[in-house]
Order: sequence, then structure tokens, then C-alpha cells
Amino acid sequence: MHVLSAHQFDIEEMTSIFNQADHYRKLLLTAEGRRTLAQTHLGEQICSTFYEASTRTKASFEIAAMKLGMGVFETENAGEFSSVSKGETIEDSVRILSGYGVSAIVIRSKEEGVAARAAAASPIPILNAGDGKGEHPTQSLLDAYTIKREFGRLNNLKIVMGGDLKHGRTVRSLSQVLAKYKGNHITYVSIPELQISDDIKAILKKSHTTFTETADMHAALANADVVYWTRLQRERLTKVEQKSLPKDGFILDKNALKSMSKHAIIMHPLPRVDEIAVEVDDDPRARYFEQAENGLHVRMALLDRAVMSASA
Ligand code: CP
Repeated sequence: MHVLSAHQFDIEEMTSIFNQADHYRKLLLTAEGRRTLAQTHLGEQICSTFYEASTRTKASFEIAAMKLGMGVFETENAGEFSSVSKGETIEDSVRILSGYGVSAIVIRSKEEGVAARAAAASPIPILNAGDGKGEHPTQSLLDAYTIKREFGRLNNLKIVMGGDLKHGRTVRSLSQVLAKYKGNHITYVSIPELQISDDIKAILKKSHTTFTETADMHAALANADVVYWTRLQRERLTKVEQKSLPKDGFILDKNALKSMSKHAIIMHPLPRVDEIAVEVDDDPRARYFEQAENGLHVRMALLDRAVMSASA
């Protein structure tokens, strides 16, 4: 019933979510389709509680709910403007919110494990909208959906993930999704201090998904179908990690694009800071804005399933 980790989805369920997202995408194209969709969950409501900043995840979840006819109660900056700021626990908060008859609670937290704690206390579905440096499962589904739309498959792909892989929750979740499909190879590009964590490597090994780690960005790019770039998560760095950062980060710019093949695509969960130069936006391989748009359709599918499971 809850969406807590990318690990929980099998291929069959992901395929069904992607098909449902395709269906919503088509319906949203016409006024008649939009009216039909708006009747889907009339009379239902969700809570959208964000204890950490968000543009895409918050907006797309809330608009997805509205497109399906649901009402939305939202708490922006919930860490400051909810009673959590007075010391209330997340467990008490979700008990109260679920008592108001909503169908699902979307939660983003600064700390890893908060979504799981909320789920343990909640009689209605909890959707993890980003959990500290732990996981961002709904992002990984929209990422996978974007790749599937491009290549028509999610297996036998060469994926390069670059940036702050230690603190980035999107790469952690996407790695787990890709590990479900056979024949993928992941190349992680970062400095040793910010490489992907051992728990993700263990999941990859268990599923026989091959991977390499490197700091040679150009060599990695040359061999990629998908280039998934991420920002430095400055808000999560320790003082020691901040001191160890090299002066030159891994920047995707026009020069770096020369290393990539023509068929490759460039993705980024966004927000970007300076790790993808604005000049890359006009490159025909850039997909990060479409990727963000895909979040609406995937989150509509996830909310529909959550509401259906809450009413079952
Ligand atoms: N990709 C992502 O989670 O973006 P936001 O932080 O803006 O929601």
C-alpha cells in the first residue's frame, strides 16, 4: 500500500504503472479526456507534507491529484509551519492527518527513515517523496519511464551516473530499479569520497548487475546510452567532505558532449546548479525537462493506486 523504496517494485508492476502513465498522458491531451480524468477520484483528498524544499515533486504530486479530481491539503515547509516544529512526532502527525479522512499522505523529509516511520503508524498509504539521503522511489519510476519511452526497453543498457552519488537519493533509487532488469551496466562517475554506497553495490551484485566506478568522466560518457547527471548535495555534506572537494567538479558542457554518442540521452533529476551548462539545454540529447514532465503522469498512476488501495 505504501511507496517507500524503489526496491519494492517488480517489473510487472512497473510496466503496469508505465502503461497507466501513458494512458493518462493521452487523456490529458484533450478537454474531454481531462474532464473524464477529473471525475476519477472526486470526493477524495490527499495530504502533501514537505519538510524539505521541492519544486518538481511537490508540484507534480499536487497537480496529479487535482487532475484526478482530488482535493489537496498541502503543508509547504512543514518543518516550520506544522506542529513538528513544536516537537510533535511524525507518527502522531500522520495519525491526525489520516483521521481527517484523506486517502494518502505524500511526505518529503530531511532525514532518512521518516517515510518508513510514518508508514508504520499510518492506516492509509504513505508515498515517500524523498527521504533524506535515503531514497526517492517515485523519482526513480519517472526516470525509468523516461528511459523506457526513449529506448523502448529497460534492459541491456549502459547507464552512466555522475555527480554526488553518496548523498544523492535519486541515483540510489534508480540503481535499484535498473537492477531489476537484465543486462544493464552502470558506470558511476565521481571522486572516491562521493561514490555510490556499499549497500547499493551489494544490491547490484546480488542481481548480477555489473558496475564500474571511475573519476574519468570523458571515458565513461563515450560508452553511454543514458547519462544521468546529478548536483552536489551541499546541504548534506559534512565539513570534512566539503574540504575534500576538488576545485573542478564534473561539469557537462559542450566540450563534454563531444565525448557522447549521438544516440545517448542526458537526464538529470533537477534542480541543477552548475553541473550541466545551460548551453546543453539545446542539445538534441537533453531530456531533463521532459523527464520532469513525465513525473506528472507517473505520479498520477501512483496516486490512483494509493487511493484505490486505501478504499479497498
Ligand atoms: N527531482 C526532485 O526531487 O526535484 P525537487 O526537489 O524540486 O522536488
